[in-house]
Amino acid sequence: MQLLPTFDLVLFGGTGDLAMRKLLPAMYWRVTCGQVTPESRIIGAARGELTREDYLAQVRASCETHLGEEFDPKVWDGFAERLSYTKIDATVEEDFAGLAAKLKGREDNVRAFFLSTAPDLFAPICDGLARHKLATSNSRVVLEKPLGHDRASSAEINERVGSIFEERQIFRIDHYLGKETVQNLLALRFGNTLFEPLWRRGRVQHVQITVAEDLGVERRADFYDRTGALRDMVQNHLLQLLCIIAMEPPATSDPDAMRDEKLKVLRALRPLVGRDVLAKAVRGQYKAGAAKGLPVVGYLQEKDVPPDSATETFVALKVEVNSWRWAGVPFYLRTGKRLQERQSEIVMTFEDVPHSIYERPDEAHALNRLVIQLQPEENITLTVLAKSPGEGMRLKPVNLSLDFSQTFKTRSLDAYERLLTDVIKGNLTLFMRRDELDAAWQWIDPIREAWQQYDERPKSYTAGSWGPAAASSLIGRDGFAWRNEL
Ligand code: BG6
Repeated sequence: MQLLPTFDLVLFGGTGDLAMRKLLPAMYWRVTCGQVTPESRIIGAARGELTREDYLAQVRASCETHLGEEFDPKVWDGFAERLSYTKIDATVEEDFAGLAAKLKGREDNVRAFFLSTAPDLFAPICDGLARHKLATSNSRVVLEKPLGHDRASSAEINERVGSIFEERQIFRIDHYLGKETVQNLLALRFGNTLFEPLWRRGRVQHVQITVAEDLGVERRADFYDRTGALRDMVQNHLLQLLCIIAMEPPATSDPDAMRDEKLKVLRALRPLVGRDVLAKAVRGQYKAGAAKGLPVVGYLQEKDVPPDSATETFVALKVEVNSWRWAGVPFYLRTGKRLQERQSEIVMTFEDVPHSIYERPDEAHALNRLVIQLQPEENITLTVLAKSPGEGMRLKPVNLSLDFSQTFKTRSLDAYERLLTDVIKGNLTLFMRRDELDAAWQWIDPIREAWQQYDERPKSYTAGSWGPAAASSLIGRDGFAWRNEL
């Protein structure tokens, strides 16, 4: 494991949910793996008046919860030595002065400012860093989503952050790009010759991308109600997965080569506008039902959700990519909260054989399918037909499987571990470039506008189901079915 350069990582929003659940445990793991030099520092920054001891106690409790049996008090000691806290209110000048004092004399280190705060604080924080001469050429700023709530607000944030940091210093996170299976998808596509000839129209019948969660809105109702599934999940995670599937092979592994190809996909998406949105996009909202066998309330009864909220907790879309490779191949995207199970997968279904000489299962089960599962397990499965044992030639679907945990027998990195180490190394490959983000918003905005214009209320679905019936009809109209409905 390569030692990281000595760094100072400042976590704005350092007492928040993301820092506690993901970022700090991720750094703990990097310390465990011996990748962090003893001189490196992690500074939690938030508005609370906390002592270092208070902060350490909070982080320790959180690491214990999230790491479970893997928490090791000896590693914790080494991690804690590198950890401190500073109070920062983005509107208080002295607070920035306090941070600057903490970083004084450490100018040669890599500096990373991770902004895990509300997006309206991104610009004021960057301004504060600049005023206190902390936005130096070896510093980086990491922006956690949501980056605005539409194209205009995102452009404004990018403009202001871009007036202080250069594009090479701005790391826009989409944590789905850090997931191990997404990396493996790149390896599968660009490390093998096998799939490339099949990866196109004429060979691929259709593609499904599902990111299903069994959780509800948890304690984020306030944020979620202003956001909705389209902006929370589709604008970023699902479109990024689509890009990785649909992009052309980049010429090199250079960050911009990869990002150029993703951008071309976003720009080739057939716009969904006006009435077309009503036919090709389904909005849903969960009502009371069950999760893991226990009764749960509906979205409108969740704490902090207005009782007449029209925010969607589910979206299904039919997407087309206008390119030589993909013209005519539908991509179906769906995501939702309180669905039957936590399951994220990409399913590529191939065309049927032109003529069959054997007895085959019904069409839905006869087709070759490549399933790339991101969650809950990480694996890749290819369904092929094989002969059923015994007399006669009866064909039956069987799976060729690659299960990562079985094959590599090693713990795979959490997305944030990979992304944080990439920030420190300065590798931008897995981060969104400004033009990508803009293209994604440009495609998303008209969908929301059409919902508003035609007063398209979300269709209700029972918590614990697979979403509204309209999502099944969306794909069913084209003669296909979601994999869980086969
Ligand atoms: C976040 C969304 O970006 O991704 C959350 O804001 C969602 O609403 C989460 O729950 C899902 O991430 P993961 O890695 O658990 O699938």
